[in-house]
Amino acid sequence: MTKSRPERRSWAEPYKIKMVERLKMTTPAQRKQAMETAGFNTFLLLSEDVYIDLLTDSGTSAMSDYQWAGMMMGDESYSGSQNFYNLEANIKKHYGYEYIIPTHQGRGAEHLLSKICIKPGDFVPGNMYFTTTRLHQELAGGTFVDIIVDEAHDPMNLNPFKGNVDLQKLEDLILRVGADKIPYVSVAATVNMAGGQPISMENLRAVHTYCQTHNIKIMLDATRAVENSYFIQQREVGYADKSVAEILKEFCSYTDGCTMSGKKDLLVNIGGFLAINDTKIYEEARNLVVVYEGMHTYGGLAGRDMEAMSRGIEEAVQDDHIRARVGQVEYLGDKLIEWGVPIVRPVGGHAVYLDAKMFLPHLTQDQFPAQTLAAELYIDSGVRSMERGIVSAGRDLKTGKHHYPKLELVRLTIPRRVYTQAHIDVTVESILDVFERREEISGLEMVYEPKYLRFFQSRFIRL
Ligand code: F0G
Repeated sequence: MTKSRPERRSWAEPYKIKMVERLKMTTPAQRKQAMETAGFNTFLLLSEDVYIDLLTDSGTSAMSDYQWAGMMMGDESYSGSQNFYNLEANIKKHYGYEYIIPTHQGRGAEHLLSKICIKPGDFVPGNMYFTTTRLHQELAGGTFVDIIVDEAHDPMNLNPFKGNVDLQKLEDLILRVGADKIPYVSVAATVNMAGGQPISMENLRAVHTYCQTHNIKIMLDATRAVENSYFIQQREVGYADKSVAEILKEFCSYTDGCTMSGKKDLLVNIGGFLAINDTKIYEEARNLVVVYEGMHTYGGLAGRDMEAMSRGIEEAVQDDHIRARVGQVEYLGDKLIEWGVPIVRPVGGHAVYLDAKMFLPHLTQDQFPAQTLAAELYIDSGVRSMERGIVSAGRDLKTGKHHYPKLELVRLTIPRRVYTQAHIDVTVESILDVFERREEISGLEMVYEPKYLRFFQSRFIRL
């Protein structure tokens, strides 16, 4: 009997490999030892002990020959570097903002924005929190308020735009605290902690219109806004015939500025920026950046880093690039769905998120199911993932109690242009093996906990 012909896959990666990096192959015994030494925290592993590194898509992308050539064109003058002006021009062209301040990475921009705009006692509504973003808002004296749609907290809900803002929640907040206590609405695209879920153009436009009536600004976390724009092209009525670049420009036009971690969408290993339309905020940021990062024409980056990021923008907004990038993530997600592994759906833009509560239902949240699952997966195959659950959520700075997030996830984050389809297949096989013996897996106890962003350095032992 002949097999039926598979459906035609009409595209593959729009690049070929020119240079490779060798990987060390480890045994299960070596990995078990490495995991124990790392205190069951995948952040504390030595990267040389990792086979397929899906810890993060941040700063882990492969740069192109065009970007590397740009690195050689670094103008390392202390001020007025040509690379800054190239970067500024490309941000203006593709994101559309008036002024830009380079920063060493995304959190440098978050720091500046929070310090300038947030006063003690303010409230900052956002479509779900991100770890560094919320912490900077809190350190500036603000209180983060989650205004994402309820569907975002349900891993099974198939709403195509689970990153949307719930306008009713925003209105309730304004009625409760007053618009003058809200310096800006913090909108992320896509929403990392919800599983890389996009926000629709229609929703952002509505938030924009609503905020204008209350004179509240919107600040975009544009870290993965290109991926968000791709989802709009694929899923939202009226955008199928527009290019991702056109969609991105319209998307940003409904916001007043952005913070950016160039380490994601923009295909660089380091770099970020703050972009803003308001002259006063810009002047303040231009002044403060000198204190915390460096001169306003380099902001903690070398000239060559700015050039790589500038060229990264040009490549990031190409339709064929972004289709292949998100296509690889969807390939992983679809395989896991096929085999009945519980993941957050729909599959997001940068990562597949295992639902650890469903995967390990015999563990309570206090036994750190996602942390446990990430450790187990590493021991099985050397695939490194990241906890995005109770450990990442941290403690309430005021009460000292754990935040108990509804989502308890393990993130399999796909670096851009780095791994092959075979690597993805190996990852799927390993997850299936762990899934088959999930009932034998016991939880963890936290034995060391740093005060800030504890997920990076906390340590555990097996129960
Ligand atoms: N905003 C979002 C949505 C992010 O995902 C990140 C970083 C940042 C801001 C901060 O940027 O790292 O350049 O300072 N996310 C990484 C991750 C760390 O693994 O998801 P940064």
